[in-house]
Amino acid sequence: MSQLDQVKIVDLPKITDPRGNLTFIEGGDHTPFDIQRVYYLYDVPGGAERGGHAHKGLQQLIIAMSGSFDVVLNDGSTKQRFHLKRSYFGLYVPTMLWRELDNFSSGAVCMVLASNKYDEEDYYRNYNDYLQALKN
Ligand code: TYD
Repeated sequence: MSQLDQVKIVDLPKITDPRGNLTFIEGGDHTPFDIQRVYYLYDVPGGAERGGHAHKGLQQLIIAMSGSFDVVLNDGSTKQRFHLKRSYFGLYVPTMLWRELDNFSSGAVCMVLASNKYDEEDYYRNYNDYLQALKN
């Protein structure tokens, strides 16, 4: 079974209102993990790419809060591209998937809810190291 099989688009609650819509996320309910950290990417220059790593134990929910961008998930043999452009959809990314983010629109804001605090030891930043770890 591939880690890609665990990837899913989470349909977040949307309270529509003529005064403006509202979406909420409750850790452990809309995410299959407790939220330990939130970070966001913004002011991304045109043509820039982010990511380029895998996580050993970290799970994430990635949301396009504004604008749009693509998330490319790779399990070491298959790549799947997701285009995110709505703030009421979250992309659930389990552990051990190589990810790249590109195709950022101007003004895009990428918010990430994460299952753990930042830990550089949790990263595979070298693709060959990641492939090697998959074999073990
Ligand atoms: P990185 O995860 O490589 O960014 P991306 O995958 O979005 O391209 O992180 C970039 C830098 O920011 C790196 O030096 C680590 C630092 N960083 C933190 O200090 N805390 C965090 O929560 C994150 C996500 C990154």
